[in-house]
Amino acid sequence: MSGLLAGKRLLVTGVITDASIAFSVAKLAQENGAQVVLTGYGRLSLVERIAKRLPQPAPVIELDVTNAEQLAGLPDKVREHVDGLDGVVHSIGFAPQSCLGGGFLDAPWEDVATALHVSTYSYKSLAMAALPLMSPGGAVVGLTFDATKAWPVYDWMGVAKAGLESASRYLAAHLGPKGIRSNLVAAGPLRTIAAKSIPGFEQFETAWTERAPLGWNLTDQEPAARACLALLSDWFPATTGEIVHVDGGYHAVGA
Ligand SMILES: NC(=O)c1ccc[n+]([C@@H]2O[C@H](COP(=O)([O-])OP(=O)(O)OC[C@H]3O[C@@H](n4cnc5c(N)ncnc54)[C@H](O)[C@@H]3O)[C@@H](O)[C@H]2O)c1
Repeated sequence: MSGLLAGKRLLVTGVITDASIAFSVAKLAQENGAQVVLTGYGRLSLVERIAKRLPQPAPVIELDVTNAEQLAGLPDKVREHVDGLDGVVHSIGFAPQSCLGGGFLDAPWEDVATALHVSTYSYKSLAMAALPLMSPGGAVVGLTFDATKAWPVYDWMGVAKAGLESASRYLAAHLGPKGIRSNLVAAGPLRTIAAKSIPGFEQFETAWTERAPLGWNLTDQEPAARACLALLSDWFPATTGEIVHVDGGYHAVGA
């Protein structure tokens, strides 16, 4: 098999529809020589149906990243399909409605805690769950939304992403000695289920389509997915704790 990820074995989380960023990652990864195992959360039969739309049908393992038992059982489940992992993709985010859409000042801690557990802490949990299957040269890649600014309507999800960006740097520090890299892709706004659950998300859509220097396609997940593939590949062997912006250049220009 040839391609950027020839011979690589990947665990890809976060597929729920074929618009999921994770779906594009899984599809491109297979097209570039990787063997892909998916994890699914919640509506597993839906994820299994979507998985059949990939170039090669991929197995789906149930995983709620907040469930310690499922995390502990992950290596055995993965070993039913592949004998190790070269890469892990964290494409997971969730915040209760109170945490989004302008509710920053009123969101209760229980809801904020859920957002941080699913969207931030889980990056470390997933990496640690997969670690027994990984070896030097391995890579963990996650998805963020530029957390250097306070955005309208993003509220506690923005705080969760700031934490994710920091967690990725700490993971890079702690897993570097094992030869494992941790990097994030900061994607611009894309019309996925997660995005549609943010009231006022269209503000991002307008801003990006009007101001991104390269322009921005709200329904093209491939640029973000390509960056994930690059970071999972052997072409960034000395890069870790990094955030690659795939946002049409929006982060680089003033409003
Ligand atoms: N869509 C955007 O505009 C955008 C921009 C930048 C970053 N991101 C990030 O990309 C990642 C993927 O999101 P997406 O936009 O593809 O949306 P999506 O809705 O397709 O994917 C989100 C995924 O998170 C999963 N998930 C939620 N709670 C979970 C849990 N407890 N355990 C395991 N999985 C769980 C869902 O099942 C779903 O598959 C997220 O981290 C998101 O914040 C999205």
